[in-house]
Amino acid sequence: MIVFKDIANLSKHIQSFKNDGMVVGLVPTMGALHEGHLSLVRRSNDQVDITVASIFINPTQFNDPKDFENYPVTIERDKEILEREDCDILFLPTISEIYPHGIKPAMHYELGDMEILLEGKYRPGHFQGVAQVVHRLLDIATPDYLFLGSKDYQQCMFIEQLVSIIQSPTKVIIGNTFREQTGLAMSSRNMRLSQQHKEAATAIYKALIHIKENFKRVPFLQLEAEAEQHLIKHGFNKVDYISIADSKTLQPAAPGQQQNLIALVAAFIENVRLIDNMMIAE
Ligand code: PAF
Repeated sequence: MIVFKDIANLSKHIQSFKNDGMVVGLVPTMGALHEGHLSLVRRSNDQVDITVASIFINPTQFNDPKDFENYPVTIERDKEILEREDCDILFLPTISEIYPHGIKPAMHYELGDMEILLEGKYRPGHFQGVAQVVHRLLDIATPDYLFLGSKDYQQCMFIEQLVSIIQSPTKVIIGNTFREQTGLAMSSRNMRLSQQHKEAATAIYKALIHIKENFKRVPFLQLEAEAEQHLIKHGFNKVDYISIADSKTLQPAAPGQQQNLIALVAAFIENVRLIDNMMIAE
């Protein structure tokens, strides 16, 4: 695996691969890699000639500075894992490499409802920051394919929208959420949880299953309230949202809706904010 810290050398290499007719895949990450990330690297390896992974903890997408400061950093371990997975290139830029003119956004992305729904509502500015960095990474790496994980369902929807707004030729491929045996969705933020809280955090998965098993007979508002009570009972100190939503728009599902349903959750345990989702009906 070749590690690049600067854009000039990375671009030169990628361009020469592309000139030789090779197909390039990008797996963008903020590090603290887990099985979910690795499954995307494997999928990229299966599908393209050159897999590029990026590790960049993007300051512009953190609405809470403490969350940014506390974000787990495990670069040496991540490098070893990527080597083992046969990743071809690791892009490991500094903040000034990605944002040479400072982190103030150069443009505003028209995101419509994404900006006010769910993550957009509870993390003001978050998606503008994601747009800023993903746009930049697409310009730098010019990947044919971009691999994302569906644990960040709204982010996937949003990046698909972004790719179309900026008229990028890159195709977005979405991989499954990976879970611990307990059901807890794999997330870099899990590293900040004690063992006891990791076990308690499985309440999210159980709440999602409860919704899935009961959505045909219990009103959605009642199910959302039951799921919230379940989280609070198991040690979550704050629930940002539990939403049974239309999976195409993320608007609250209409009462009695039986198709295109997804349940999404964001909640804090031990001051760590976890998100998860589950498709309830296709
Ligand atoms: O999902 C993430 O890890 C980040 O939001 C991403 C896509 C790498 C952009 O910083």
